[in-house]
Amino acid sequence: MDNHTNKRDFLGFSHLDAGKIIELFDFSLFIKKQRREAAAGQPYKPITGKTVAMIFNKPSLRTRVSFEIGIHELGGYAINLEGKSIGVNSREAVEDIAQLLSRYNDAIVARLHEHSVIEALAKHASIPVINALTDLSHPCQILADAFTLYEKGLWHEKIKVVFVGDGNNVANSWIELAGILPFHFVLACPDESKYMPDTKILESARKNTKGTIEIVHDPKEAARDADVLYADVWTSMGQEDEAEKRLQTFREYQVNPELLKIAKPSALVMHCMPAHRGQEITAEVMDGPQSIIMDEAENRLHVQKAILVKLLNHEEYRKFHLTHRLQNVARKLKS
Ligand code: CP
Ligand code: NVA
Repeated sequence: MDNHTNKRDFLGFSHLDAGKIIELFDFSLFIKKQRREAAAGQPYKPITGKTVAMIFNKPSLRTRVSFEIGIHELGGYAINLEGKSIGVNSREAVEDIAQLLSRYNDAIVARLHEHSVIEALAKHASIPVINALTDLSHPCQILADAFTLYEKGLWHEKIKVVFVGDGNNVANSWIELAGILPFHFVLACPDESKYMPDTKILESARKNTKGTIEIVHDPKEAARDADVLYADVWTSMGQEDEAEKRLQTFREYQVNPELLKIAKPSALVMHCMPAHRGQEITAEVMDGPQSIIMDEAENRLHVQKAILVKLLNHEEYRKFHLTHRLQNVARKLKS
């Protein structure tokens, strides 16, 4: 978590290490199990009475619904603030919104355009701020994606994740993760600077990684021996004016049956969604047996609930890990 003062934010992965990420995954597994137990009459509500303000300056389905349901299930209350209505930096300065919301709420979830605005929000808020996507990054998505592979027992240092498409926010977060949690990440993107990932994120990840980070421009070369083929839209939110040009530029960057054949026979297909069938991914692959797209979308809920508990009830989060460690020691002593 990013520490600005003594409060914790979740703007990216920069203040996590590999161990802390695995801890979050283990807690997400527990949270997922708790949801089934809640359905059987044992609710788990560690953030009872807490309120979370959610600012959406861009459209959303998964993020908004999964946060709202997650907050409700954990015993909290979510308030949806449409960006248009509160006017971040147009009706009101971001520093004023940050301070005001901190008087009423326990956390802020924000989906904004410029990453600098979420940084300003976090700087001026005295409560945790969670990045629900900016033009630069989408950490909640990538944490849920990596967790999806982890829960399937597939996460290891040699796993080869190939991202096919635009080196934008989703790719940036994969790269940021690769700088912390070792694995083999390959981005296949067009050879033009505007489609390349963020330079600072890439440089920092390359400096710190114990895995491999590659940038190539040929999707077929990238797909060889891939364990995961990952797709995102060719035109992100806010880039609609470039849609026509991008349709041409990204033509070769489609996750389709031919590309899947180049990957390992056991390869899985992921997509952060929303997907444009027939553009970055074919319907056949999206609906095919190798797709785990709906699993990763569902896991947004469980992982974000884990993040919320970590930020809003750290004592509960710590207690879980202490118990978890003691159980592991007891298991080892028994065997
Ligand atoms: N993947 C994702 O963040 O979806 P939404 O834009 O619908 O929230
Ligand atoms: N890159 C996409 C991700 C959507 C979840 C966008 O920013 O629109």
